[in-house]
Amino acid sequence: METSILMVCLGNICRSPLAEGILKSKLPSSHFHVDSAGTAGFHIGKSPDHRSIKVAANHGIDISHQQARAFQTVDFNRFDRIYVMDRNNLKNVISLAQTAKDRERVSLILENEEVPDPYYGEESDFEMVFDLLNNACEKIKSDLINP
Ligand code: 4NP
Repeated sequence: METSILMVCLGNICRSPLAEGILKSKLPSSHFHVDSAGTAGFHIGKSPDHRSIKVAANHGIDISHQQARAFQTVDFNRFDRIYVMDRNNLKNVISLAQTAKDRERVSLILENEEVPDPYYGEESDFEMVFDLLNNACEKIKSDLINP
């Protein structure tokens, strides 16, 4: 059976598109579905931020085809695991949860820390975000493959 994982940030143009691309690059698409979404709708339909596209490309990952979308309540039914980047995302996603089971699907991708929002930063901030997410996705992969 396929396992579905959703990565969530605020705009779905900087952090979660990177998280989606990184995790996809580590898992076979035959058994894992990976997507991303934003808690805010202001960038719907847009490509990822050019700095996220560039940093991913530096690591051999193409995220240029992705399109931003908003997180929806129905995502709780579509995804087994929902990883959020920071505590604001956590609060916003949890506020849409309708059952304890919905809430249990959601966690901070860095467990006790936040992935800093690089939107007003520089390319080096996007590189740091890439490294944080790459480590987190390695751990997610090993937890999925050896639960
Ligand atoms: P993201 O970054 O949540 O990692 O996609 C942001 C993107 C856009 C904005 C803020 C954060 N914004 O204010 O437009």
